[in-house]
Amino acid sequence: MQSQSGNPLPWGSTPGGMTQFGTDVVRAAGILRAGGLVGMPTETVYGLAANALDACAVAKVFAAKGRPTFDPLIVHLADVSELPAVVSAVPPLVWRLAESCWPGPLTLVLPRAASVPDLVTSGLPGVGVRIPAHAMAQRLLRESGCPLAAPSANPFGGISPTTAAHVMAGLGGRVDYVLDGGPCRVGVESTVVSLMGEIPVVLRPGGVGPERLAELLGHYETARPDAALEDSAQPAPGMLSRHYAPRTPLRLIAASDVAIPVPGLRSGLLTWGPESEIPGFDRIFRLCREGNPEICAAGFFAALRDLDSAGLDVIIARQFRELGLGVALNDRLRRGAAGGEK
Ligand code: TXA
Ligand code: MG
Repeated sequence: MQSQSGNPLPWGSTPGGMTQFGTDVVRAAGILRAGGLVGMPTETVYGLAANALDACAVAKVFAAKGRPTFDPLIVHLADVSELPAVVSAVPPLVWRLAESCWPGPLTLVLPRAASVPDLVTSGLPGVGVRIPAHAMAQRLLRESGCPLAAPSANPFGGISPTTAAHVMAGLGGRVDYVLDGGPCRVGVESTVVSLMGEIPVVLRPGGVGPERLAELLGHYETARPDAALEDSAQPAPGMLSRHYAPRTPLRLIAASDVAIPVPGLRSGLLTWGPESEIPGFDRIFRLCREGNPEICAAGFFAALRDLDSAGLDVIIARQFRELGLGVALNDRLRRGAAGGEK
């Protein structure tokens, strides 16, 4: 990957066109104001950003990702003071959550303001809002002056990007500029919580773990993936069962299982923990010897990419303990494995 110079494509998103990358926030902000697309670092994963109030720009996000329009986008803001730009009502619970989780890996679904294009919310009455903690994302939001709609910057259904190079590999030629903010610190997407009803509903586990959510929310419900429809506007559209998927078939083993390669297949292993001798695998990626979920999360998607590009027939992945970020990682593993069995 080489840094490119020269002017950005005027409206970009031209398949086969040249995508530039670098650390020029002012230039990226100008592209966003002009209706273009920018790969944006956040503390969770890289996002594919567009001005959330510009329906044409938002349409380009769906086109660049190959994302169905029934899957709504998260709107990123610099600060809670900007909520009225995209939200029509702020339930009191928001302030408590904001105080302890924002900026950070929490997305709240709140009643949308009329200014938010239908495309952003897929016609749903709520809009997902998040205030990212990454310093470069903050600078971009302030410099552009736009709320930024940004899904993860990967082709739809694929592995989320945690470096600028991942974004270039997946969407190069379809985005005007990629801001390089280094590897993402958290490594797994935000927790999505809907506050549209009386009881908060967790739509997607993520960077705020369940123990912390329980402290903050008290009683809450969790949307079940099997309750989600696969092909129409859904209350929890991100619950599509196959998602975050490597091209290589992924098989899961329990946290305490012995890892055994599949006879006759070139087998890779994604694991954690102290075991030292694991014979028979063609490639092994160990995320963390102690099994610390935060450390595992930071390297998770990059490890999955590494194994996916290693010419393997199958990837065996050890599930995580259902604690902290381990819950979000197991969710991504299950969805990565759905329908991918060989
Ligand atoms: O950490 C993250 O959340 C990253 C970074 C870039 O911020 N973004 C991200 O976006 O993961 P995406 O589009 O890959 O996932 C957003 C999830 C989807 O599952 C989507 O269905 C759900 O949030 N979502 C967004 N807006 C929603 C809405 N209005 N109602 C219900 N679910 C919504
Ligand atoms: Mg995504």
